[in-house]
Amino acid sequence: MTAQIIDGKAVAAAVRNDVKEEVTKLRAQGFVPGLATVLVGARPDSVSYVTSKRQACAELGIESYHNELPENISQDELLALINKLSADSKVHGILVQLPLPKHINEELILGAVDINKDVDGFHPINVGKLGMKGREPLFAPCTPAGVIELLDRIGAKISGSRAVVLGRSNIVGLPASLLLLGRDATVTICHSRTKDIAAVCREADIIVAAIGKPKFVTAEMVKPGAYVIDVGVNGIPVLNPDGTPAISEKTGKPKQKLVGDVDFDAVKEVAAAITPVPGGVGPMTIAMLMKNTLRGAKHAFGLL
Ligand code: GUN
Repeated sequence: MTAQIIDGKAVAAAVRNDVKEEVTKLRAQGFVPGLATVLVGARPDSVSYVTSKRQACAELGIESYHNELPENISQDELLALINKLSADSKVHGILVQLPLPKHINEELILGAVDINKDVDGFHPINVGKLGMKGREPLFAPCTPAGVIELLDRIGAKISGSRAVVLGRSNIVGLPASLLLLGRDATVTICHSRTKDIAAVCREADIIVAAIGKPKFVTAEMVKPGAYVIDVGVNGIPVLNPDGTPAISEKTGKPKQKLVGDVDFDAVKEVAAAITPVPGGVGPMTIAMLMKNTLRGAKHAFGLL
């Protein structure tokens, strides 16, 4: 069996297009959705993510209000900014790019975001609601919500399935598990202390891999016909034919390529469907952020 390759770029484009259409209609009625982005310091990966998020806003007609703060900003100053944005009626979503510098208490900052503007879904009340029966947060975290969107779009049956989530991070593993549970999957979370992960994975109808280990999930770990969603983004060195690291002529540095947590080439021969890296889950994160921002705006405008 060769798996269906799930085209995350195409699904993300479809989600973004739906958001754009709705935003256009809202703007025509005088309602302008707005997202505040908060970037502390200048980590190259964070700068690049926030730039892409702001570009998406511009494409979709969402106003973005950017806040760039020095690495050494005090916790009190950052907290004051979050309080100001929480009170600003033009702002319907607040995105604090993570990680924050070590001297800042992430829990304190994320807990200060108005839960009705928490488009990342990281506020403990929203995470709590995500895990509770009969409760629904206004927002689910973007990457895990993207995972569910991909499964839905390929027609995977989540209810009654056995789902295994590799990784228990606050950003992906834990909320992905809660979302799957909320959709009536039987969920197992594997982590660094789990015994015989391979045997646990082999039971799964759905595997969500988010552990940050290149090609960790091998074909032998996957039940034939399973759905495999790869959230991993790992840089590994590109090798020359003689096994030495390839060097970029442009930068003089070792060349890198991106691989996921799944051994794609081998697993695609076993799975029913699989996401590639890049081009699978990655593009979904920003698409879902745009969807959440639209939801925050509609909530604020009394249109939900
Ligand atoms: N850092 C890595 N992933 C994310 C994300 O989804 N949201 C935020 N705010 N920061 C991140």
